[in-house]
Amino acid sequence: MPLYNKNKSGTMRSFEVKGVTKRFEGVVALKEAEVKFEGPKVCGLVGANGSGKTTFARICAGEIKPDTAHFIFDGEKAIIRSPADAKKYGIVLVHQHLSLIPELSVWENINLGNEVRKGIFTNNKIAKENAIKIINELGQSDISIESKVVDLTPEGKQMVEIAKALLQEPKLLILDEPTASLEYFHVEQLFKKIKELKKGKISIIFISHRLWEITKICDIVFAFSNGKSVGTVDFEKQPRDENLIIPLVTGSKKGYTTYLQKEKGQLEKAKVVLELKDISYEKKLQNISFSVKKGEVLGIGGLAGQGQEELLLILAGVISPTNGQIVVNDIEVKIKHPKDIIKKDVFLIPGDRQRDGLFMNHSIFENVIYPRFPMKRDRFILNYKKLTAITKEVMEKIQVTPPEIRNLIKNLSGGNQQKVVFAKWLQFTPKILLLNDPAKGIDIQSKNLLYRFVHELSKDGTTGILYSSDNEELICNCNRVLIMFEGQIVDELIGDEISEEKIIESSLRIGSKN
Ligand SMILES: Nc1ncnc2c1ncn2[C@@H]1O[C@H](COP(=O)(O)OP(=O)(O)O)[C@@H](O)[C@H]1O
Ligand SMILES: [Mg+2]
Repeated sequence: MPLYNKNKSGTMRSFEVKGVTKRFEGVVALKEAEVKFEGPKVCGLVGANGSGKTTFARICAGEIKPDTAHFIFDGEKAIIRSPADAKKYGIVLVHQHLSLIPELSVWENINLGNEVRKGIFTNNKIAKENAIKIINELGQSDISIESKVVDLTPEGKQMVEIAKALLQEPKLLILDEPTASLEYFHVEQLFKKIKELKKGKISIIFISHRLWEITKICDIVFAFSNGKSVGTVDFEKQPRDENLIIPLVTGSKKGYTTYLQKEKGQLEKAKVVLELKDISYEKKLQNISFSVKKGEVLGIGGLAGQGQEELLLILAGVISPTNGQIVVNDIEVKIKHPKDIIKKDVFLIPGDRQRDGLFMNHSIFENVIYPRFPMKRDRFILNYKKLTAITKEVMEKIQVTPPEIRNLIKNLSGGNQQKVVFAKWLQFTPKILLLNDPAKGIDIQSKNLLYRFVHELSKDGTTGILYSSDNEELICNCNRVLIMFEGQIVDELIGDEISEEKIIESSLRIGSKN
């Protein structure tokens, strides 16, 4: 009998979660969301980026505390306040962003948190046997359990993550975009496994953007939009037709107040400031070519993980392309290091500000003045008074509250932190701003303010290249949007063509043969 079919504690016959509401610092991630089905089933969860799917999954797994939520399993009220509670009910989540420890081996990762004990010692022999068995059951016998996770392919890592979840004998397995890093062949393998799990009476909540996957594997589908439940398709009663799902995942309006107003003629006459020729990067980017004009805001859209971030990181000098040319103001530049491009007044606003954008344990002041030092932009040694004045001036512009420049970054809200990231570069005049999902997870007021800066700068001739996981931000802020899919540009939307429907259609390759 396969290991995961042990499922000692029985099947979850009915799963109901309702009234799920969750706010993060002013961002409403979920509002009265609900999912309900009779098990065992494969239940799809769909919705645009930012619609609340991951938050919902993490609340069910006890990782995030909801503001409100009602859980009813097998007709009985359940309480989930921690991962241990969720585990008690047999709910196990496989994360969208993998949670493995890179330096540990495959078998150690699989058993982590679920160690087999022999007296007070962990029993490594059984742990290894279990790991081999489960890896084989997943059709991954080419993965050695002794390999370090860091050495695996993204697919291998995903499969190990799933193996780890299965070892916990779930009654309900939640897979958050498990196919995003898988190639077609492996998706098929995963689907085979999902079917077997269902036969073993395990239910699955399957989160994916790919509609063909949803129609193929799911029995019932729930759609979220802006954190609300907006519809259900039950394939046991309705045809397996993508067209039933499309209207549920398109058409969200979140009420941004900032819209980019730009006269068409103005841009036509503008000079090209940046040109990419055949840029490739490992398997992530293939022959990317495009140009951008002075004052243009160019959006980069598509499903998450299609190479958009790599593209921006190449332009910022964080990673180097394997091929291709980058031309800034008619001169080819070899970007080997971030400073090569910072010198050209091209600045990156990273999305993960905690990791890439700021020194969390330092003050606003120290963070804002930092770029002046390594770049030696000022010939004369700057005095403290002048630096303080500069910082105060940009602080006023970006309205960080309270405007106290000695405050430590780690004590600021997400919105205020991101304003400081902007402030670092606002003291110079950027020629090109590379915006890598800059407003992710921040409140709507800060978001509007940040984009107002982008607009003001673009009026003065700054070019913006904006990757956003939120289509609404692309619609409101861009003159043109390129859609990426599997490392290539597959569509270009200009001006009035930029709409939620068009972006989603191109992102999902609806109507294409791909
Ligand atoms: N830890 C967090 N802090 C602040 N905002 C968050 C956090 N996690 C998610 N959000 C916000 O909640 C909303 C829903 O996000 P998420 O659940 O990740 O959506 P999805 O998985 O559907 O793309 C988004 O606006 C996101 O920016
Ligand atoms: Mg998600």
